[in-house]
Amino acid sequence: MNQGVLQTYREHLPISSSTPMISLGEGDTPLVRSHRMAAELGLENLYFKLEGCNPTGSFKDRGMVMAVANALERQSRTIICASTGNTSASAAAYGAHCNLSTVVLVPKGNVARGKIAQAIAYGAHILLINGSFDRALAIVRELSERHPIALVNSVNPYRIEGQKTAAFEISDALGDAPDYLCIPVGNAGNITAYWKGFKEYHELEATTHTPQMFGFQAEGAAPIVRGEIVESPETIATAIRIGNPASWRSAVEARDESGGLIDAVTDEEILAAYKLLARLEGIFCEPASAASVAGLIKSVGNGLIPRDKTVVCILTGTGLKDPDLANQIADIPLRELSAESDEVERVILSL
Ligand code: F0G
Repeated sequence: MNQGVLQTYREHLPISSSTPMISLGEGDTPLVRSHRMAAELGLENLYFKLEGCNPTGSFKDRGMVMAVANALERQSRTIICASTGNTSASAAAYGAHCNLSTVVLVPKGNVARGKIAQAIAYGAHILLINGSFDRALAIVRELSERHPIALVNSVNPYRIEGQKTAAFEISDALGDAPDYLCIPVGNAGNITAYWKGFKEYHELEATTHTPQMFGFQAEGAAPIVRGEIVESPETIATAIRIGNPASWRSAVEARDESGGLIDAVTDEEILAAYKLLARLEGIFCEPASAASVAGLIKSVGNGLIPRDKTVVCILTGTGLKDPDLANQIADIPLRELSAESDEVERVILSL
């Protein structure tokens, strides 16, 4: 039975005797070996970490369970976050589970439909902001300083602590750290968390080395790559539509300490990777997650990732979050037929 991240990684986390050991069954997600994409790219050892298999469909649950446990420990009654969608879904779920009031600020018009549906279903107070994620984050940071409201964005160090557990899982599953880790970068909390996890496991001698961290931003929202804040970020991958990442400095540290890279991928490359992953592997991730695969393809192409190395791509969220996008790119026509077997047979034989 999956006991959840807090129980499983208790000795690696900031847990005291008064920490409530809550869980929605987060963590313990599949690490799936690639066959068809690996063959296409000529890679010997490629794996996908399916973080969309977490309870609310994204990696956020690993960090949220820790942040909410800490909020309970401090006797907070309200949690708040800014979000491009997944953090709000996760906060709303753990808030409901723990009988907390949850307030989420999301940029109006730029959040995938499924994520809003989740926050509604879990009973969160949803505030649609006429502005960017970056602006929403500035607002919740300010308010949480003035009021006894727990901020559960990844600027909360407990979020990073919970999220680092994915690095432990990957290392345990492979028997050592991978050589390369490909990961999408938005607010840059997750790349920070993975790097912390890999470093800690290495210090404990659970692994022989640490991976090179390859982070990928969307071209229209690539402040770290450009070295400057992007005032009006734009990308089809709305989850990483962020122009001023909160964990900017620690993402650069992860890149530099690991001998890695933070690069940009275009929306076209993201969409191509999104489709390829579904068609070649049967894995449906959301567009932001596909940025890691787009980055992998680019990095293998330009020789930065050698073909004989072990590579793990982090697929941060499930494609079901954003059903509209899958419909938009549909290239196999949906056919409407009569309910007659003859007609169905004729069509099938003509495919
Ligand atoms: N992938 C997905 C699916 C995300 O939702 C996010 C971030 C990222 C990647 C990037 O992770 O921010 O730690 O660098 N989503 C946040 C949110 C911003 O509000 O849900 P990061």
